[in-house]
Amino acid sequence: MIIAVDGPAAAGKGTIARALAKHFGYHFLDTGALYRMVGLAAIRAGGEPITTPAAIAAALSLDPSSFTDAELRTEKVGAAASIVAVIPEVRAALLDFQRSFARKPPGAVLDGRDIGTVVCPDAHAKLFVTASAEVRARRRQKELGSADYEAVLVDIKARDERDSKRATAPLVAAKDAVVLDTSEMDIAAAVKAAIAAVEARRVP
Ligand code: CDP
Repeated sequence: MIIAVDGPAAAGKGTIARALAKHFGYHFLDTGALYRMVGLAAIRAGGEPITTPAAIAAALSLDPSSFTDAELRTEKVGAAASIVAVIPEVRAALLDFQRSFARKPPGAVLDGRDIGTVVCPDAHAKLFVTASAEVRARRRQKELGSADYEAVLVDIKARDERDSKRATAPLVAAKDAVVLDTSEMDIAAAVKAAIAAVEARRVP
């Protein structure tokens, strides 16, 4: 059983995906963390602006077990992730790891941008979690403990633009995804709606 959870930055997909994995007893993979690790490693190796060779080298030598770096969650690294995520060789280097993770029994939940479209097009259940840019910026501002709402909103919009317009695996809802707009939902309501959507698709 594979559950794909895609959507733009700060829409709530990480929280929803983790809750789904807990509810169903499945494995969970935050695929954004892989891109964040590549972005951070590319900056550390080659400085900024990130170069394509530095990003590809970082993706090819990625050790997904070193997942815990606190710096990964910063907006600077989020932006770096979306820059390296445009490079087809970087995406290709991360594909095998994601696909073999998805096949772990008894099931797996993966969250990202292209899980339902590219990584696991045969996923049994697909959710596209979204919310307005303003609501997402408020959530991210709270999460980051940042004082500057306008700056967070600008970052979110820049990332949306980069993720949606790239040629390889752009951010788009899969045709068979259930779209969940969480703008007006709290976490409990969003998780409840997500579980119901998966239950409706689940193989008995
Ligand atoms: O947590 P948030 O939604 O802000 O970001 P994330 O899921 O950690 O992803 C960071 C960046 O990695 C995104 O803006 C995408 O550019 C990229 N990404 C991707 O291209 N494909 C994925 N499956 C996951 C993330």
